Amino acid sequence: MKFVGEKILIDGEETLLISGAIHYFRTLPEQWEDRLEKLVAGGFNCVETYVPWNLHEPQEGEYNFSGMLDIERFLKLAEEKGLYVILRPSPYICAEWEFGGLPSWLLKYQGIRLRTMDKRYIEKIDRYYDELIPRIKPYLKSNGGTILALQIENEYGSYGNDYNYLNYLKEAYRKRGIEEILFTSDGPTDRMLAGGTLPEIWKTINFGSKTEESFELFKNYQNGLPKMVMEFWIGWFDHWGYEHITRPAEELREELIYMLENDISVNFYMFHGGTNFGFLNGANYHSEQRCTVTSYDYDALLTEAGDITPKYNLVKEILKKYSHKIKKHKNHREYRVENSKKISYGDVKFDSCVSLEESLNKISERVFSPYPLKMEELGQDYGFTLYKTKIKGIIDNFQLTIQEVRDRALVFFNGEYKGVIDRNNKQEIFLTSFEEESTLEILVENMGRINYGPLLKDEKGITEGVRIGNQFLYNWDIYTLPLNNLEKLEFNEGYRTVENTPIFVKGKFEVKEIGDTYLDFEGWEKGVVFINGFNLGRYWKEGPQKRLYVPAPILKVGENEIVIFELHKNQEKVFLVDEGKLF
Ligand code: GLA
Repeated sequence: MKFVGEKILIDGEETLLISGAIHYFRTLPEQWEDRLEKLVAGGFNCVETYVPWNLHEPQEGEYNFSGMLDIERFLKLAEEKGLYVILRPSPYICAEWEFGGLPSWLLKYQGIRLRTMDKRYIEKIDRYYDELIPRIKPYLKSNGGTILALQIENEYGSYGNDYNYLNYLKEAYRKRGIEEILFTSDGPTDRMLAGGTLPEIWKTINFGSKTEESFELFKNYQNGLPKMVMEFWIGWFDHWGYEHITRPAEELREELIYMLENDISVNFYMFHGGTNFGFLNGANYHSEQRCTVTSYDYDALLTEAGDITPKYNLVKEILKKYSHKIKKHKNHREYRVENSKKISYGDVKFDSCVSLEESLNKISERVFSPYPLKMEELGQDYGFTLYKTKIKGIIDNFQLTIQEVRDRALVFFNGEYKGVIDRNNKQEIFLTSFEEESTLEILVENMGRINYGPLLKDEKGITEGVRIGNQFLYNWDIYTLPLNNLEKLEFNEGYRTVENTPIFVKGKFEVKEIGDTYLDFEGWEKGVVFINGFNLGRYWKEGPQKRLYVPAPILKVGENEIVIFELHKNQEKVFLVDEGKLF
């Protein structure tokens, strides 16, 4: 790809980049092909994806590029299907993704300054890039592949102004032999553009509306180079406990036509959102913490299950009229695309269960510490942590304080449930005991690290200590519960309903024909669902999301197993239905 003035040339031909965002790590690899074909069939010539550092380097110095993280396969497929690629492997990606894609083990380094020239941070990026970049190099356009451009940092101007850092990231690509066009993307304000850009690097902007106005301001930062909206927010995401957000298709029409008329390239954020499987959702913090829900449907052009929407059809119709401006990839073909089959498997009854208490020694190992350790100090990225201590002597109506709780804790005192203390609503819990010795247990859930803004450095668990009155409590037994080893659970036959006793329940269901399905968690309170060992993510009666998407590839013909970890109140059964429900 070359720029000649305001024009983009690919293989000498002028074109607009009409791109759609698909995060390979939010869709099962078996479904990548379908989503990419739908992009081509919609009239797009490009796919854009972030690259999540936290998944590719789950432990410091240990890498994973397989299965859902096989980025090379994704790039190959994109090329085969007839798509150019815009790659955004910046160390930080935001994206409503746990910790904005930064590995949580960075937080083990006390006082580390993220997204700056802090030597410790920079060293880690270098080591990661040494692993990542050789894998993507063969797919660069200049090496005969399909990647046209790479991003150096993500909306950096919304966070900081360390130009040495931006420059370092630029050089990190150059010294590893990447000659492709590099770019930054920022919000369309003076501060953001001043902080997040480098003079010699292609600048792109992100917004959902006011295209004309945004490019008016943008002129002061870049003139005479191609214009591109790197994130055209055509939908939005949801937080637990807040309203479901959508964006009407009609709102896009004018903006998109303006872009196409004025030769502005665009990346639809998102074309297909997918799912925050497992514990990988991020969170925002504006006066309080808001945790992103499991679905990343995003009201995008395709639904969470990859189905075509009216928005998709509208965009396709508009793009058709401008197809003379959109150069097709050499592998372009016509695809016949269709929606996936949805199947209602009916109700699944639970026939065995086991409490967390009974399972601690199976799925965790006790760690003793004089004071509560943070999850990161325990080497734990995600999930739950149980803190237990004994308190001697009389406790006469003392308030319990968790200083700080990240993010939500169930409190048990002498075996009795006392309530929840969470980061936002610090419920007042008072403890009284005339026993010689009392037991205090605190089960803390990491609800997803903040992915945007000044509070990005979001350590989890109990960050300082636990007090009754002013007295800190010391000497703790701690159990890390990342819930990545549930095959070790030993279930007891028979079902029982319990309240405020965290419990695992297990059931089976038969599958004759495999299809997409949705788990309806009506009646359940809060927990995590595993099907055939795959962590589907969190559910919460707070809503707005009411059902979890169960992608077909995790099911198998014959017997399938479902395990639910419920914190507050389990039910005898759960329903697998053929329709999603996001609010
Ligand atoms: C910003 C970020 C994206 C995403 C969107 C909102 O533009 O760059 O990663 O977080 O906001 O969805």
